[in-house]
Amino acid sequence: MNVVVLSVKDRNQDLMSHSSRYEILAAKQKKIEERRKKVHETLHKHGQDILLSSEFHKTKGFVQHGDMTVYEHCMNVAERAIKINRALKTKCVERDLVRGALLHDYFLYDWHVDGKDKGNVHPKLHGFYHPSTALKNANRDFKLSPREKDIIKKHMWPLTVVPPMCREAWVVTLADKYCSLMETFGLHKAKIKILNIKDDES
Ligand SMILES: [Fe+2]
Ligand SMILES: [Fe+2]
Repeated sequence: MNVVVLSVKDRNQDLMSHSSRYEILAAKQKKIEERRKKVHETLHKHGQDILLSSEFHKTKGFVQHGDMTVYEHCMNVAERAIKINRALKTKCVERDLVRGALLHDYFLYDWHVDGKDKGNVHPKLHGFYHPSTALKNANRDFKLSPREKDIIKKHMWPLTVVPPMCREAWVVTLADKYCSLMETFGLHKAKIKILNIKDDES
């Protein structure tokens, strides 16, 4: 049997390294919490009317990927878009970015049920047609800026053929693809870093 005998000095050093490691972890956690809070504040600052709208809450009734609702997916995409914009310093207009991201999948039907929901006009081609439906619904229920319209209309690029015309639409397109992949494979709770963007609160 091996017996390790620590001197008082060794034990003190060991305790100190434990406490400094704890302090580093606590500081890191605090930073993560602050970053998360700022992202949520930005989301509510720019998207308050959308988030409070009963029409937008209808997206809670439709499944997007896996066990995730369209509402949760849109929130994920909006948060991811804010993070990408900040991490890559893409200098997007945050208000347009947030609102376009929240409304990018505002098609309001169940795309898993072929032809059952009346909004689902091309059941087999949901991927191609839902941006137009989302834009039509969003235009009806909210006042949209040209950038917000471009985000919603082009977020499925390259399926939409015509590429996004503003950086906000590019960022949401990227955020949407990232979130869709994570949600489809149930990895949205994993800590995965792509493009060196901190994925701390997933
Ligand atoms: Fe979409
Ligand atoms: Fe989406």
